[in-house]
Amino acid sequence: MATEEIVLEEEEEEEEEKERMVTLGSYKGMVRLLRVKAEQEEEEEEEEELDSFAATAASEEIMLLWGMQQPTLSKPNAFVSQSSLQLKLDVCGHSLAIFQSPSSLSTPGVTGAVMWDSGVILGKFLEHASDSELLLLQGKKVVELGSGCGLVGCIAALLGGQVVLTDLPDRLRLLRKNIEVNLRHEDMRGSAKVMEFIWGDDPDLELTEPPPDVVLGSDVIYSEGAVLDLLSTLRQLCGGETTIFLAGELRNDAVLEYFLECAMKDFVIGRLDQRQWHPDYCSSRVVLYVLVKK
Ligand SMILES: C[S@@+](CC[C@H](N)C(=O)[O-])C[C@H]1O[C@@H](n2cnc3c(N)ncnc32)[C@H](O)[C@@H]1O
Repeated sequence: MATEEIVLEEEEEEEEEKERMVTLGSYKGMVRLLRVKAEQEEEEEEEEELDSFAATAASEEIMLLWGMQQPTLSKPNAFVSQSSLQLKLDVCGHSLAIFQSPSSLSTPGVTGAVMWDSGVILGKFLEHASDSELLLLQGKKVVELGSGCGLVGCIAALLGGQVVLTDLPDRLRLLRKNIEVNLRHEDMRGSAKVMEFIWGDDPDLELTEPPPDVVLGSDVIYSEGAVLDLLSTLRQLCGGETTIFLAGELRNDAVLEYFLECAMKDFVIGRLDQRQWHPDYCSSRVVLYVLVKK
């Protein structure tokens, strides 16, 4: 290739990169869009072509994540100890002590009885984004999906959110205990309540009326069988003003790719660069996305 062509190509790539950096929803920091097609282009294109574009964009994202971040080379569970009965973390001027049930991990299908790195990273990101005035949770309606032990929802409540933490029916006892133990400060800015909610079921009106300002989920994209139910829930919960924050563990490329490909049909997706995360809580095994409804 001639030097001029190479320079031109590099300039085009730089231009496309610039176009991809946008703000999404109520988060005021920049995110990198996963696809660059304008809405108008989408309206004009056949559904089949859009499906194939979504498949290509999802696959590019997976190649980038696995190729550049090399998730398998870094330490898993860097910020949690899944064999301990408690995880201690200082957030928003409070020392949180989140109870875990390590023995439940051996029960098939039970994943939320211990903490995962992506929960710590998402929670600390929320604190950091609020401190940097890039995100305001004070007084906002927040719904967390698949709360597990409840750390992320607790942090959102400490930041002033009116939070509903949800999970499967048999996960709620530990979740309630963690809310009671950790959120009884007199200076609590927000509130937290626990509710049973199974993805794909019709959501309680309390969750959807009015639609939440913010939806949170950490490590909720891990099973191919649950992807469509999770997306159906996100579609039902979210209104035009809802901002979704999802933290994913980079352990299964196929499941994440499937999620992204399906999600791109209804949501605009942006990835948060690690420079936007809490500087002490970064990991190349985790990815943070912001989503808004199209
Ligand atoms: C890997 S854990 C992550 C827990 C927590 N968010 C964290 O980061 O530590 C996944 C969570 O999603 C919940 N979950 C899985 N499938 C679900 C479903 N169909 N409906 C509701 N919650 C579900 C699990 O019970 C579990 O708490």
